[in-house]
Formats: sequence, structure tokens, C-alpha cells
Amino acid sequence: MVDRRIRRAGNELRHCAGSPPSLLTRLESLACERVRRPALSEPPPPSPSFPINHLRCAPVARRKLIVVSNRGPVTFGRDGDGQRVALRGGGGLTTALRSLVLHHEVRWIASAISAEDRLVAEEASGESIHERARDGSAYRLHLVAHDEQAYDRFYNVFANPTLWFLQHYLWPLAVAPSLDRGLHHAWRDGYVAVNRAFADAVLAELEHEPDATVFFHDYHLYLAPRLVRESRPDTALAHFVHIPWPQPDVWRVLPDEIRRAIHDGLLANDVVGFHTARWRSNFLRGSEDLLGAAVDHGRGTVDHRGREVLVTSHPISVDPHEFDELATSEAVLAAEQRLLARRPEKLLLRVDRTDPSKNIVRGFRAFELYLDAHPEMQERVVMLALLDPSRQEIPEYAEYLGAIQRSARAVNERFERGTWRPIDLQIRDDFAGTVAAYKQFDVLLVNAVFDGLNLVAKEAALVNERDGVLILSENAGVHEELSPWALSVNPFDVAGQADALHRALTLPAEERRTRLVAAADHVRRHDLEAWIEAQLSDFDRKAVRGRRG
Ligand code: ADP
Ligand code: G6P
Repeated sequence: MVDRRIRRAGNELRHCAGSPPSLLTRLESLACERVRRPALSEPPPPSPSFPINHLRCAPVARRKLIVVSNRGPVTFGRDGDGQRVALRGGGGLTTALRSLVLHHEVRWIASAISAEDRLVAEEASGESIHERARDGSAYRLHLVAHDEQAYDRFYNVFANPTLWFLQHYLWPLAVAPSLDRGLHHAWRDGYVAVNRAFADAVLAELEHEPDATVFFHDYHLYLAPRLVRESRPDTALAHFVHIPWPQPDVWRVLPDEIRRAIHDGLLANDVVGFHTARWRSNFLRGSEDLLGAAVDHGRGTVDHRGREVLVTSHPISVDPHEFDELATSEAVLAAEQRLLARRPEKLLLRVDRTDPSKNIVRGFRAFELYLDAHPEMQERVVMLALLDPSRQEIPEYAEYLGAIQRSARAVNERFERGTWRPIDLQIRDDFAGTVAAYKQFDVLLVNAVFDGLNLVAKEAALVNERDGVLILSENAGVHEELSPWALSVNPFDVAGQADALHRALTLPAEERRTRLVAAADHVRRHDLEAWIEAQLSDFDRKAVRGRRG
């Protein structure tokens, strides 16, 4: 599908510029195509602070970007024959960002996570390597092999059980967290140290591309922007936070020095982006309350340390063409055949990492209440839970996976009859199986406690072929966009979720169709390219304001 787009765009380019469609010009022509379609916001005039290539037919948004994220677009392993293979990185961030390399000149800095990643990093001796995206687009990948103990403290103590838990409101504050000496070590010798290593890698890449814009991602890297800013005051820095940003008082759980360093680190960027207006406004309030920064809530700017930072919200998306292509791929069709062979009359679906923020146990409880209230549906409906095991070295995550298994078993033991098991629990990373199930569901349940966005809802709406109904948590960022066509639920109200399951399964056919078509249409119109355009116009808006002083 990407090839089709490139061919189509290549023809357009030949038409408008008469040039041969080399890979670069074909991709530039994609950008040319982008500027012609209705934009979410008008692109501002090109800014000298952000170097832009020029096409003869239209200004082009192709940039030099240094993308920085803890998990990279691929992780290396070995196949059965002992050959090195590149596997797709898990989670929503990499699903979405992998398409960045199709549109821009990217140098991507990420942690070496697997043993094979560390070997690749060692062979590269601290330099970046050439990689190719799924359509053949070239980019450079710089894997940082951190000190193993520092990385363990960073990932398994500070970033996930602390920051992720805080930002998703997962703690019962009467008992957790207890910030002991280990936590302080994890901050100093883990989080600070790994951010320092990332900042050093950015500075090394800036030696190769001094004019590139640096685009940091997520909660792993709150300190790196300040460290880069100190060495390179004029570099364009942006940060996108993919997870919720809670109210200022929630940050008061962390010691003053730590919560200030986090806000101060983010405010070293020129632009800080969030998925939703809700997370953005919490960040503006936090900057005011916790740092005493001067905030203009109307313009969305923060004055801090003599610089103005633009704070924006744009929900990320996926590449619809990638999912169209996947939906008819051999692997997905084979998985779909297997699913069809055991398909119940009604298929409820959930697709998640096994993360406490995803609220999987309450989802099973809601299904149990539904089966209680609707005995006529027993033996006719199955909840398929496709769950990617996540962060299993962290005790909270290992315990949560156990709780998921126990609660599914309890529901199954209570209701199962003959060959019918109400919950079909599949715990594995199976992307083809996931897309096959997206095509086949009647109801998709997304009941996250809190979620920055939730790409599953967008992916599923795009490829579903049964006029499936979306049930969305009012605390998932995607609710801000897709709620007009979904059924909303309070993630804590299991009785309400049981009612929503019933309502979703009994909506008139015409209404189901109208809702799904509208949701899918929204995702197609607000796709990943539109998100990238929006980010880039933020950079430009900021640069233009900067020039005006
Ligand atoms: P998060 O980023 O918190 O994991 P998202 O819903 O935004 O949540 O993204 C999850 C991504 O992981 C999606 O791209 C989804 O397709 C993928 N995914 C989720 N569960 C599985 C699974 N069991 N197997 C393979 N991929 C999965
Ligand atoms: C979410 C986070 C990402 C993270 C992903 C998978 O999407 O926002 O930053 O990469 O989960 O988690 P993991 O810890 O496996 O990288």
C-alpha cells in the first residue's frame, strides 16, 4: 500500500516537476501530496531555524530529525538458523513512530535492550548504523548500550514502577509508594545516569547533523533535554509525552528535587506535546504550581529560565495504509482462518499489554456480571483477550499477570460448559493474530484506568469488518477523539461496563455501521502523517515566535 502511494505520488511529482522518481524524490513527493490535502492547521511559512528542503511544486516538510526514545523501532534477535533478525519493538510508541522514517531523514537513538542489541551496539563502537524501514526507506539507528546496573535501576525501579505508576494514577496512596533509599539510588544512579548517556548520544549525533531538530519521546527521557540544552543552547528541541500527565498534586508524591528536575528538564525543550488537552492543561498547571513558572494558559506557553516553551496537544495516530496492507497479508489471513474456525456467535475483544493501567481484571469482572445478567448469551459469546506480556522483571507487573490469569480462570470455572469457555486468554506477542481479531470483533473493550491515548482503538476501528462497537474508557486519551461514535465507560464501574457490553451487543445494525464508519473515517483523516505535520508546524510556530522575540 505504501508502494501504491509512492507510485501515485511519483506520478504527481513527474507531472509537476518533470523529475525522475528516485526514492528520495518519491518520498518528498509524498510530502508534496500532504501539503495539498485539507490540513488540520494551516502550515506556517518555512522558518530558517528549521532547515527545509524545497520542492518545485510545493514547500516540503521533509526534515532532519534526531528521534530519541528508550525503545527503538526494532530490536535485534536471532532466528532458528542463528541469523540476526530485526523484530518490531512492542507497544504503541514504536507502532506509531516507525512511520516517521518514511517521511523524514531520521537518526534514531534508542537503548540497546536485547542481548543482540548490545552486540550490534558494540560492533558499531558508539556510532549509528544504517537501517531500512519496511518500505526500504533508509535511516540511521544509534543503539546506546547503557551500564547494565544503571539501566536496571532506570527501567525496573524508576521509569516503570515509579513514573508510569504515578502518571497513570495506579498507587493506593495509603500504602504505596514508599520512597526508600533504593528509590533515591534509582533516581541518581539510574534515571539521571541513563538520561546523561542519552544526552551524550544526542550530542554525538548533532556533530554529524548540527541543524537537525531533536525529537525526544516519553517518560524515560525527561532530563535529557536540559543536558543537551546546556551544551547546545540553540538546537531545536521537542518532546512528546505519550502517557497521561496528572494534576500537580499527584507530582507532590515525589521529593521536591525530583519533581522539579522533571518539569525543568521538559521545559528545556522548545515544544512539549501531549495527546490531549487534558494532559496538556495539567502540565501547564504543574509548571506554574511546582516550578513557579509564568504560564499563559490561552497561548499554551511557559516562560522558564528566560525562554518561552510552547505546550501543545495532538493525538498520535497510525498509518492507515499499513493496516490496510496488513489486513490482507498472508500472516493475518492465516490467523483469521484459525479464528473463524472457532468463532462464537458474538466476539468480544480486548488487546493490551499486561499492564495494570489497562484494567484487564475489572474487564473480566464486568464480563462475569454480564453473563450473570444475561444467561441467554451463555455459550453464544466469548471474550478473546490477546495480551502481550510486558515488563515481567518488575514485581508489580509479574503479580498483575498472575491476577489476570487467576481472574480469567475463576470466570471460566464458574461458567464453562462443554467446549464453551467464556474467556479465551492468549498471552503472547502476536501482531498478526491481533490484526485478524480486529477484523472479526463485534465489541472491542478498552477500559483503561488511564491511558495516554490507546492506539488499539484506532487500529481496530480501521480494519474491522463486522460493524464492531467500540467501548472506551473515559480516561483513555482516544476518548477525546472517538467518543462521539463509541460507548463511554467509567473504568472503575464494573456494573456500568457490564451494561455497556449488553448495549453494544444489542445496538441496531444500522447504528453500529454508522458509528464504526464514522470512527474509521476520523482515523483515516487524522492519520500519522497529519500528526507529524501538526508537530512540525508547532516547531515552526515556535521558531517564528522566537524570531519575533
Ligand atoms: P501501549 O502503548 O500502552 O502499549 P497502545 O494501545 O497505544 O498501548 O498500543 C499498543 C500496541 O501494541 C498496538 O500497536 C497493538 O497493536 C500492539 N499490541 C497490543 N497487544 C498485542 C499483542 N498481544 N500482540 C501483538 N501486538 C500487540
Ligand atoms: C508505552 C510507552 C512506550 C513503551 C511501550 C512498551 O507505549 O508509552 O514508551 O515503549 O509502552 O513498553 P516497554 O517498557 O516494553 O518499552
